[in-house]
Amino acid sequence: MTALLEARNLKKHFKLAAKWPFSTPPKLHAVDGVDLVINAGEAVGLVGESGCGKSTLSRLVSRLLDPTEGQLLLEGEDIGRLSTARFARSEQRRLIQMVFQDPTESLNPLFSAFDLIADPARMLLPRAGKAELRRRVEAAAQAVNLPLALLERLPHQLSGGQKARVGIARAIVVEPRLLVLDEPTSALDVSVQATVLQLLDQLRRERGIALLFVSHDLNVVRLLCSQIVVMYLGQVVERGPSTEIYANPAHPYTRALLSAIPTLRPGKLERIKLEGDPLSPISPSSTQCRFCGRCPIERAQCRTSMPALRELAPGRQVRCHFAEEALTGLPAAV
Ligand SMILES: Nc1ncnc2c1ncn2[C@@H]1O[C@H](COP(=O)(O)OP(=O)(O)OP(=O)(O)O)[C@@H](O)[C@H]1O
Ligand SMILES: [Mg+2]
Repeated sequence: MTALLEARNLKKHFKLAAKWPFSTPPKLHAVDGVDLVINAGEAVGLVGESGCGKSTLSRLVSRLLDPTEGQLLLEGEDIGRLSTARFARSEQRRLIQMVFQDPTESLNPLFSAFDLIADPARMLLPRAGKAELRRRVEAAAQAVNLPLALLERLPHQLSGGQKARVGIARAIVVEPRLLVLDEPTSALDVSVQATVLQLLDQLRRERGIALLFVSHDLNVVRLLCSQIVVMYLGQVVERGPSTEIYANPAHPYTRALLSAIPTLRPGKLERIKLEGDPLSPISPSSTQCRFCGRCPIERAQCRTSMPALRELAPGRQVRCHFAEEALTGLPAAV
């Protein structure tokens, strides 16, 4: 089965200012060889600490950024090779839509809710007439439970939850196959968060829209997503079914991350506090594990060889030489 979206060895290296005139500028490896698979109708959670590259990866997947290297396949076709400008004019543009973090900041304050929702349809479906546009906007508003009476309002006349709904309606008005959501609920209060999450899950179930969901809230990710991708310093360190990863995290970073969830498995997974400083994402070594300096099970081998993302069990991958040890508490068989 062809995946809806697949990233292969996807990289985004940002060039920084050179220290000296004529010297080679250093590069910040924000996304550094990411492999990712999103199947139709699947919710994939993307987690990891601040600065690990989640937003950059989201923007690459949404084709708002050009990759430095690697492939990005949409239903088997490499869309990573089209420039962002060409992709913006392509037929496939409407299939991947992004929902941004803060609805207040991402919505133009001078546009009514109707125009905000209609805007992507006007751009991506230029042949749609006025009546068709109104039909689409109203259908999208209904799908996100936004009362039609609110469509003439400006963003400042809407509540946070209503603005979040406008943001989602804008994204679904062009009937995408994949929604990329970069912390879509972090600006909302808890009760509104819950209804927006239910809405996203409903869109996935009823319309088969796949979700790439970035969040710092690991409980929310567990509820919404069947697959989890854990990133650390630009790389995927673990990925697989969320039930398995939450029950038995294999990478020492995932273990530390999940141990910080206050309500998860009380008494079972002891809080692991990471000591030490993270390595720099600027021109990082390719012969060292990126988790060095903070890893509780670090060995000499970790400082001389970068672990590959390898299959731990069917559908379950991890980037650690000693993952079996983290999993069982016993040294890995050598
Ligand atoms: N345009 C840019 N130029 C240079 N560096 C950048 C640029 N955008 C992002 N970065 C760097 O890339 C790295 C990844 O940033 P990114 O925003 O993707 O992280 P994140 O995982 O989304 O973090 P957060 O959880 O805080 O939102 C960071 O070190 C950041 O400073
Ligand atoms: Mg971010």
